[in-house]
Amino acid sequence: RGLRVADRGFMNTAVIESTITYIDGDNGILRYRGYPIEQLAESSSFLEVAYLLIYGALPSTRQFDLFEHEVMTHSIAHVDTEGFFHSFRYDAHPMAILTSAFAALGSYYAEANPSLQGQALFTKSDPASLANMDKQIYRLIGKATTLAAMAYRVRQGRDFVVPPVGMSYTESFLYQLDHLGEGDYRPNPVLSKALDVLFLLHADHELNASATTVLQTGSSLVDPYSAISTGCASLYGPLHGGANEAVIRMLISIGKPENVPAFLEAVKRREKVLSGFGHRVYKTSDPRSFIVRRTADEVFKVTGKDELLETAMKLHDMALKDDYFVSRKLAPNVDFWSGLIYRAMGFPLDFFPVLFAVPRVVGWLAHWRQMMLQPGGVKIWRPRQIYLGAGKREYVPIDKRK
Ligand code: CMC
Repeated sequence: RGLRVADRGFMNTAVIESTITYIDGDNGILRYRGYPIEQLAESSSFLEVAYLLIYGALPSTRQFDLFEHEVMTHSIAHVDTEGFFHSFRYDAHPMAILTSAFAALGSYYAEANPSLQGQALFTKSDPASLANMDKQIYRLIGKATTLAAMAYRVRQGRDFVVPPVGMSYTESFLYQLDHLGEGDYRPNPVLSKALDVLFLLHADHELNASATTVLQTGSSLVDPYSAISTGCASLYGPLHGGANEAVIRMLISIGKPENVPAFLEAVKRREKVLSGFGHRVYKTSDPRSFIVRRTADEVFKVTGKDELLETAMKLHDMALKDDYFVSRKLAPNVDFWSGLIYRAMGFPLDFFPVLFAVPRVVGWLAHWRQMMLQPGGVKIWRPRQIYLGAGKREYVPIDKRK
């Protein structure tokens, strides 16, 4: 009643009060809990940032050690989950597997659904309830890499690798992905550091489509595994986490740098999309894109330059000087360069969105926890619509219809 205009795409609707991530899209500023993303990328680590995003403050050494221990201890997946992974076709998209795996994981942990168990919902005032919530958080962060590695290996027909002891989060992930099962394999430190930086940059980005989806689903008070799986599904789309994969497909289709001008003309005729450019919030360069570009140079020192780099650079430089893109404030986003790093590191193209989803689990959990513990409790997210359909009509039996 009284609604006249629909806010399509949530251009002007704030659905929650948050203290997690700050973005100033006009000035290219991104801060996690007040800390500039540049400082965190320079000095922090993915897991420390995970703690910061979820609990609101940088951890003490003791707090960090405990958090890391809990996350890594919970990284082992129940052996029964192996059969689940084998039920997918060999060519299933890993995001489809990961999305399903998060939902399936929830079936192992009844205590993650306290209201279904007739218990009080997660609440700030009850230490046991908070400990229960923490446990689900450790599990989801810990198992994200394990489930992702299982999705990766099952498609190659390879056995699964038990998460190793004594490695960092990203080292452990790389180990699980590519360990051949023999020798004293340790991932290249430059590559695991680069992945750690990329994970840190992808950990949160306030109310993007997937975080919003997690909150929308979570607002019905379902368990966090189900909520995270819906976030994962949202991130799968090419306008969101699928963009890093789309950038590489675009660069492959362009081929040589000399084909860039013709491609940009096709974009201007709206026959093509310039993937990795544009953002709902940033109206200047995404601050993460500069850090990713620098990280790419570190990675290329180890892996050699990607043959698509020249094409990417020409595309980048030409678009930033072209009036069509300038007037629409279209600049590179985080996905423009990240795909080139993943490609240089040898990841298959369709695994790129998984490399976005795994760290984003942290952001989804930070938003979910904040909502669950917000003063006054959770209010179910039930938006309104503007009904433009038919007025009242009489039912016509099928044999009387024209
Ligand atoms: N290529 C060509 N034109 C574009 C692009 C693009 N990548 N992005 C926006 N535009 C045009 C759009 O056609 C519109 O033009 P006009 O006003 O003449 O109709 C204008 O720029 C405004 O764009 P919009 O579509 O209204 O912007 P939006 O905020 O609804 O969409 C976006 C944001 C990210 C979905 C869009 O920019 C896009 O599709 N980009 C390519 C996909 C991509 O790189 N996604 C990753 C986003 S960053 C990481 C993440 O969050 O997952």
